[in-house]
Amino acid sequence: MVEDMKVTPWDVKGNIDYDRLIKEFGTERLDSKLLKRIEKHTGSLHTFLRRGIFFSHRDMNWILDEYEKGNKFFLYTGRSPSGDVHIGHLVPWIFTKWLQDKFNVDLWFQFPDEEKFLFKDELTFKDTEHYLHENMLDVIALGFNPKKTKFLIDTRHAGLMYKPACEVAKKITFSTVKSSFGFDDSFNIGQIFYTAMQSVPAFLPSVLAKKNIPCLIPYAIDQDPHFRITRDVLPKMGYYKPAAIHSVFLPPLTGSGGKMSSSIKTSAIYTTDSPKVVKDKVMKYAFSGGRSTLEEHRRLGGNPDVDVPYQWLRFFEDDDVKLKQIYDDYKSGKMLTGEIKQILIDKLNAFLEKHQERRLAAKDKIDEFILKV
Ligand code: TYM
Repeated sequence: MVEDMKVTPWDVKGNIDYDRLIKEFGTERLDSKLLKRIEKHTGSLHTFLRRGIFFSHRDMNWILDEYEKGNKFFLYTGRSPSGDVHIGHLVPWIFTKWLQDKFNVDLWFQFPDEEKFLFKDELTFKDTEHYLHENMLDVIALGFNPKKTKFLIDTRHAGLMYKPACEVAKKITFSTVKSSFGFDDSFNIGQIFYTAMQSVPAFLPSVLAKKNIPCLIPYAIDQDPHFRITRDVLPKMGYYKPAAIHSVFLPPLTGSGGKMSSSIKTSAIYTTDSPKVVKDKVMKYAFSGGRSTLEEHRRLGGNPDVDVPYQWLRFFEDDDVKLKQIYDDYKSGKMLTGEIKQILIDKLNAFLEKHQERRLAAKDKIDEFILKV
């Protein structure tokens, strides 16, 4: 039986139907007209846009209207430091870096280091401190411009964030939080307040600049319930509604629906995994669209549409011609499961080798990125 779809900021399960999410969340599809409009400014389209990996948005046309009038936006995204970063987390960040470069705009990157502390029984502040450091290295390693990127860490910047968070919190009822997130009376009061903290970076730059600045937030669609609330509240406080652009999830290695997630270790490749670990995980756990015997595979061909190595290559192989060749060869049975897995392993290991070098170099740069108040 296919598990029913569930998409909340803390839980993603089942077969994800993205069309249904657009309807249920009330977002808009990123259509070809909008893609052309983006391309006019960026010169070309990022792989994630060409392939529908970023598939939905809120108010992107408004962001571009303002940009065209000379009213630049800032970007905002984030990471809750609760574990090691996996390659799924990188999806919105790689895209954010591209947007930063193409539009030459500031990025506010939030590390809500209290969020998962509040949501996970076993997680201590000592753990989040450790992951905060490790996760910042991953973000820096992606090459964000230090002059245009500000890290906002909830527990360290609490003095700056608390008043704006209270202003947001005052406009959100318990009943809204319950219905938006599916909370009941057993949730702790920190969890109930948290969405106010995630709203703050969407308007903090406007507070500090004493003028309204448009905000664009890239994220995977699981975070959307927070920003629906933010968009309701901010205009009541005199600020713009933040715009958003949404990605699909990198599927778990095991392919059983949902998203790649740290809670299921075999579903994820971490940015610190060694080449051997990557190879072993892909060979052992990657869900295959191949046939059960070699003879059958050659005769009937594989199914790239469910094959996780192929699905991941859609994210990580930029070359459209190469990707199409892989699709055709796998589907016709010319390419075998072991071969497509090897292509993915080589691709991931080449990416991770560079990422790990830049991660090491990032150790001396953390201070440059943290917002000074
Ligand atoms: P977190 O730390 O769980 O995830 C960080 C970002 O990664 C995205 N993500 C994925 N994207 C593609 N495929 C996956 N398998 C996958 N798994 C996670 C998430 O959507 C997120 O964008 N509360 C947030 C932290 C946060 C935030 C923000 C995120 C604070 N402010 C503003 C986005 C925008 C969180 O726990 O994300």
